[in-house]
Amino acid sequence: MLSQQENDHITRIGPGTAAGKLMRQYWQPVALTVELGGSRPVKAVRLLGQNFVVFRDAQGRYGMLDRDCPHRGADLAFGRLENGGLRCAFHGWLFDVDGKCLETPAEPPTSRICQGIRQGAYPIREKNGILFAYLGKDSPPAFPELDCFVAPDAYTFAFKGLMECNWLQALEVGIDPAHASFLHRFFEDEDTATAYGKQFRGASADSDLPMTKILREYEQPIINVERTEFGLRLIALREIDAERTHVRVTNQVFPHAFVIPMSADMTITQWHVPVDDTNCYWYAIFTSYSTPVDKDKMRAQRLELYELPDYRSRKNKSNDYGFDAHEQQTQTYTGMGADINVHDQWAVESMGAIQDRTREHLGQSDRAIILYRRLLREQIAKAAAGEPAMMVLDDRTARMVQGPATMDGIGPTRGWETYWMEVDVKRRRRAPWAAPVPADIAERAPHLVSAAE
Ligand code: FES
Ligand SMILES: [Fe+2]
Repeated sequence: MLSQQENDHITRIGPGTAAGKLMRQYWQPVALTVELGGSRPVKAVRLLGQNFVVFRDAQGRYGMLDRDCPHRGADLAFGRLENGGLRCAFHGWLFDVDGKCLETPAEPPTSRICQGIRQGAYPIREKNGILFAYLGKDSPPAFPELDCFVAPDAYTFAFKGLMECNWLQALEVGIDPAHASFLHRFFEDEDTATAYGKQFRGASADSDLPMTKILREYEQPIINVERTEFGLRLIALREIDAERTHVRVTNQVFPHAFVIPMSADMTITQWHVPVDDTNCYWYAIFTSYSTPVDKDKMRAQRLELYELPDYRSRKNKSNDYGFDAHEQQTQTYTGMGADINVHDQWAVESMGAIQDRTREHLGQSDRAIILYRRLLREQIAKAAAGEPAMMVLDDRTARMVQGPATMDGIGPTRGWETYWMEVDVKRRRRAPWAAPVPADIAERAPHLVSAAE
């Protein structure tokens, strides 16, 4: 249980807040690249409680500006893309991607007002389908060498979805290995061969046991959590019998991402990006270690649920997330259909706009959440002291953050400690792109690395 003040301290991210100061040390996903496609690549966005406009100029450069025009405050998101920048629709002032004022056409030719104007501008980088923005005052950090950034574009697929609640409760569902046995329980297993692109529907590595069966039948995982270079590693163990144990390795990547296995050859890297205190977007890059990703299929599957332009779920609070009492009795634990994104969305939105942590009671299955909050408080304090926080990387340290390893499989009850690393290293060695073996794995199990060479 937290006090109200402690809860505010770790959840609120607007300008001037302590957690907001921390979040402004990182690159933040701000749009999917496809959202800046089409004939008018201009998009209004909201990030960390501030309003911006993102655009792509005629030279193909991305820019992000404060959304209110510095002349008299009109909305630049309705501007005209022309003459090397974005032009305000009110009096035609023109700005380039760096926020430089290029023209003030209503002013007389002798006017020098333009030279003294600079619109707030923020750097943007494109990474495998996602545009990242940096709101900090210092120079931006380097990107870590996560698989989702290292993999060639063809082996990745990016998507997003809106959650109408605070970012922290949305993140916390991703570091809660126990919930999958309940929230995502299916009373019957699907044919695992039809599982492409769906989470928890495939078979675990080295077995033909469907994940749905394991999650359903073994509901008290042993949860190991350890601190790493990048955040936390979670290892959830479900002991099937004296010989076999289901092992699931997931990661929290600081500040607000997790990296989890989706199937034997795909991982999901997912960020929970605060739009403001009471809304967030999940942004995900799906990364394949085997074959190129079928992007059209992945996108079509997800557009069945998410509605453009806001990527809002069609099943949401206004229609009780599609709840069906009969289905809840006979097919699923929630009665909200087969898409696990809907289950997670109900869980986190039903807690309220910002979960009231003065009334919660954390149990042993919440270990990773407890550790994450400790980490978060430590890093908020660092940012407040003007020090670089965890994962604020430079070119040298960025190279040390690789992977991370994920895995979901049935391993030996004695020996699971190295088994999960073997599975991960093998997959990397077989990958058609240069998937690095993360340094901490190479260090802990040097025999795996040399054996594969
Ligand atoms: S308010 Fe934008 S040009 Fe006047
Ligand atoms: Fe979930």
